[in-house]
Amino acid sequence: PIKAFLFDLDGVIVDTAIYHYQAWRRLANELGFDISEEFNERLKGVSRTDSLDIILAHGGLTLSEARKTELATQKNEWYLELVSRMTSDDILPGVPNFFSQVRKAGLQTALGSVSKNAPLILERIGMNNVFDAIIDGNKISKGKPDPEVFTKGAAELEVSPAECVVFEDAVAGVEAGKRGGMYVVGLGSPDVLTQADLVAPSLETLTVDEVLARFQGEG
Ligand code: BG6
Ligand code: MG
Repeated sequence: PIKAFLFDLDGVIVDTAIYHYQAWRRLANELGFDISEEFNERLKGVSRTDSLDIILAHGGLTLSEARKTELATQKNEWYLELVSRMTSDDILPGVPNFFSQVRKAGLQTALGSVSKNAPLILERIGMNNVFDAIIDGNKISKGKPDPEVFTKGAAELEVSPAECVVFEDAVAGVEAGKRGGMYVVGLGSPDVLTQADLVAPSLETLTVDEVLARFQGEG
């Protein structure tokens, strides 16, 4: 049976995906090139350092480790400026209602985010006491698409991967969930999230019963 739901943060619980994109785009522009929204799909769910490497390769730049650290720090400062204005109003539509259904169904929950800023963001939106386990970028050594962030969540909840459903908006995150042996609900476009077991536009258009019915029989 399904025992736990594991949630990505950026782009699933809260609309920070747009802030990451804005901050990376500002950095790329300062380096003399641009990144499109389509290109940004490759950055979603990917760690800060891996994202920078992907962006620099796109711009045809090879830089020293010291310079890369400077740029990653600069991007994070811009990102934090955007995040500092966030409140519970930035929680994505449908999230509070979905979580009350999750609680009623008696499911466990974990956060699975590669962001080092995840604790700060949860605090800002007032969701720091919602999850039974929180795995974030400070607790992992390998970012998505590696499954570590989700397998650690399952381990902390003491459930097996086959008892977990992952909710993800990113190609790299969907892959991480699948490689971890979990069911994955993609939130976004089916044309982008091709590896997901089920795709919906957002948590607003899903019910917990519907998700459970979809995966319950399979195990
Ligand atoms: C993920 C985002 O949740 O966290 C990525 O989707 C981001 O865009 C990654 O790069 C790392 O986040 P942070 O906050 O540690 O730079
Ligand atoms: Mg995400």
